[in-house]
Amino acid sequence: MQQNLQRKKGLVKSVFDAVYNKYDLMNDFMSFGVHRYWKRELIRLINPSANDTLVDVACGTGDIAKLFSDVNQNQSKILCVDFNRKMLTEGKKRLKNYKNIKWKLSNAENLYIPSNSFDFYTISFGLRNTKNINKSIREAYRVLKKGGRFFCLEFSKIQNQNLEILYKSYSRFIPAIGKIVVGESKPYEYLIKSIENFVNQEELTQILKKNKFYKPGYRNLSGGIVSIHSGWKI
Ligand SMILES: C[S@@+](CC[C@H](N)C(=O)[O-])C[C@H]1O[C@@H](n2cnc3c(N)ncnc32)[C@H](O)[C@@H]1O
Repeated sequence: MQQNLQRKKGLVKSVFDAVYNKYDLMNDFMSFGVHRYWKRELIRLINPSANDTLVDVACGTGDIAKLFSDVNQNQSKILCVDFNRKMLTEGKKRLKNYKNIKWKLSNAENLYIPSNSFDFYTISFGLRNTKNINKSIREAYRVLKKGGRFFCLEFSKIQNQNLEILYKSYSRFIPAIGKIVVGESKPYEYLIKSIENFVNQEELTQILKKNKFYKPGYRNLSGGIVSIHSGWKI
């Protein structure tokens, strides 16, 4: 189902084409700003040093790159990758003062980046959108240096039944909120479906293991609304 959803040619690209200029605003509306906390938690777990390099895939407008960069006063070298030109352009505009951040138009499944080149690979709310998760994870493994670490922040499966009921009721309103804030409801119908159809925490852990990541594990945030998965390349 997950893969069927994305096989529709160009669907994901057109979703982000429709929302790119109000993407950040809508994130705040939908999550009541909690996505900022989730992203800060991701960076807190990574705990980067000044010399660490990062490739942030499905970077959107560069939230993760900015947070990673700010930890060490913009000394880290960062490459932001996205396959949507409009999202990249928004990111570049927004982070134009960050000279340590470079931008690349590429697909998560085929990055066109040399092997063994980064200390960290992050993908935040992006893996779910890729057509072939295994391929994206193999690419992540390839571009990481030995000793490098993979991190994925993604919507996941809620662990508490009451919270799940509450969340599902709220989700039904998201397309309507999208219509008001962005002027489009379709991208947000896609969003809800893609979250429902995505793998759970244990399944994603197994996918990481199958693709050679060492000690794959995860941490739930907000009761499992999202989780942060990680694994080492050794
Ligand atoms: C929900 S946004 C997340 C943006 C950002 N990482 C964040 O956390 O705010 C998803 C992004 O993934 C990008 N994306 C989706 N599929 C992709 C793929 N196969 N390769 C590269 N980028 C992709 C979209 O263009 C979009 O910018």
